[in-house]
Amino acid sequence: MESLSIRASRRYGTLSPLRYPGGKAALAGVFADLVDDLGLDNPVYVEPYAGGAGAGIALLRQGLVRRLVINDYDPAVYAFWRSVTEYNEKLVELVRTVPLTIDEWRHQRELYRSGDRTDTLALGFAFFYLNRTNRSGVLRGGVIGGLTQEGNYKIDARFNRQTLSERLMALGDLSDRITVSDLDGRTVIRAYAQDPSVLMYIDPPYVQAGSRLYLNAFDARDHEALARIIDEVDGAHWLMTYDVAPLIEKLYAHHFRSRYELNYSARHPGFTDELMIASPDVAQALVTRWRIPEAG
Ligand SMILES: C[S@@+](CC[C@H](N)C(=O)[O-])C[C@H]1O[C@@H](n2cnc3c(N)ncnc32)[C@H](O)[C@@H]1O
Repeated sequence: MESLSIRASRRYGTLSPLRYPGGKAALAGVFADLVDDLGLDNPVYVEPYAGGAGAGIALLRQGLVRRLVINDYDPAVYAFWRSVTEYNEKLVELVRTVPLTIDEWRHQRELYRSGDRTDTLALGFAFFYLNRTNRSGVLRGGVIGGLTQEGNYKIDARFNRQTLSERLMALGDLSDRITVSDLDGRTVIRAYAQDPSVLMYIDPPYVQAGSRLYLNAFDARDHEALARIIDEVDGAHWLMTYDVAPLIEKLYAHHFRSRYELNYSARHPGFTDELMIASPDVAQALVTRWRIPEAG
């Protein structure tokens, strides 16, 4: 198997308002280089399994892509992104004024648990509130500092009203360039596969951690069904990251696969425990820039 040692020519800071376990903002520079190498005209960047959409938001805010497509099947994640694009002012107002207390945390947790999709802003904000006040941003995790708030870090440790409002408002200004949907990721892949200006970043729930971290458990049949769609979409430009697992090795045996390290990622030095899988043209660009020559 190939190995890539990636040093993207540009790096971007954190611009997503969400904290996401395994978030991929660090790959934004990789996509910026790929957009150049593929010579995409007015590129559209599509994340069928978006989560925090860390990389996509950096690309859009830097003006490197014309349009960003954020799709996530999780109703609360979807409600959040729709609130960002459709109810931006109200969302920002909530971020500026909401109490950061255990009572409020319990209230937002109730709203989140009720999963009431009819009030997009309430569900979207409840998700955001828990994402910023829970340990590691994990929705099933407890509140930072514990219910007694005796820890070193308290409930407000990751809720900087000013920074978060700025990130949200910047996205509000760009909302006419953001498309938000809650379809199955495979539907989105099919829908955009024929568009030559599209670059797709496919980051599905992992085989190992998928069911623990995310609401929508992804089982072996889902991984297989996704692989079948990927086999169908000849000609599309796509890059995928996955954990290293026998099932994935098997499903993608006939595609380009590579281990990779991000040379500039202080948080993840050395090789990641992930694979990059890519369409032929994206693979060519990756290898040309970052292949590690074999020893000997
Ligand atoms: C690995 S995370 C993506 C992380 C993201 N790349 C980031 O940087 O934040 C996978 C996401 O896929 C979503 N998901 C799970 N099943 C899905 C499905 N069938 N279709 C679309 N999205 C799905 C989950 O809700 C989760 O947010």
